Amino acid sequence: MSRVFYVNGDFVAEEDAKISVLDRGFLFADAVYEVSTILRGKLIDNNAHLKRLGRSMSELSMSAPCSDEAIIAAQKRLVEVNGVDEGLLYLQVSRGVADRDFAYPANVDSSMVMFIQEKNLLNNPAAEKGLSVISVPDLRWQRRDIKTVGLLYPSMAKQAALSAGADDAWMVEDGLVTEGTSNNAYIVTANQEIKTRHLGNEILSGITRTAILKFAQESHYKVVEEPFSLEEAASASEAFISSASTFVMPVVKLDGQPIGTGTPGPVAAHLRKVYIETALQREDL
Ligand code: PDD
Repeated sequence: MSRVFYVNGDFVAEEDAKISVLDRGFLFADAVYEVSTILRGKLIDNNAHLKRLGRSMSELSMSAPCSDEAIIAAQKRLVEVNGVDEGLLYLQVSRGVADRDFAYPANVDSSMVMFIQEKNLLNNPAAEKGLSVISVPDLRWQRRDIKTVGLLYPSMAKQAALSAGADDAWMVEDGLVTEGTSNNAYIVTANQEIKTRHLGNEILSGITRTAILKFAQESHYKVVEEPFSLEEAASASEAFISSASTFVMPVVKLDGQPIGTGTPGPVAAHLRKVYIETALQREDL
């Protein structure tokens, strides 16, 4: 049975889910998106995702397609009609359809599409094995705080990692790690401090990052929101990433060299466990 997609108010079969060639998301990457986790049929931290979506739209002077309440109702219906228990809900808002022109079109309605990817998120074998990452220069634009669909460079970096036999890439700017291709990056220093880059235009403010840092503080870990270098990462006792699709995932190798013992570390394991346990108990973390 084919999946049901959402396109501008309609719930349609995958083969009928079509948008215009003149959609500005297609022509200019003039679109923003969110990926929300579905666990046991419920959307996790979805209110925080919609808040960030609102911010992304406002930073680009893009009008909202409808109210948050209407988005939530459509998301819930999509999860229900697809009968999905575990996976990801992808939501994209584009500025809309207009003849090709660099200037923003006037009086055009934004468009919204959504679809679901069913996925095994809880029992991900990578959590036991850990990820191997390579470092690459961060060649993205300078407004990475806006979650736009301009994802070609992260896609190139991910492919470079896979071609090098690794799982993902950490991007580096001025000698300091910004983030992973589609996740935030962390190290645990020799004196057990969790270090992750501070928020700003250089990285995306991860919804999972916010939850993880709160859980870390509640577990009495010292959290330092500062950039770290590749050298610091190489001598860290452990490392990990976070995102809506991976929760917390240990990183055990950087540029071919083991981090710490070269096996998943206790801090990442603890935060992953707390994240999952909490997400199974309540929807807003
Ligand atoms: N990516 N940094 C970047 C560049 C990202 O693309 C993402 C998420 C994150 C983590 O954000 P969050 O915790 O809100 O998922 C950080 C999603 C999962 C994606 O593009 O598929």
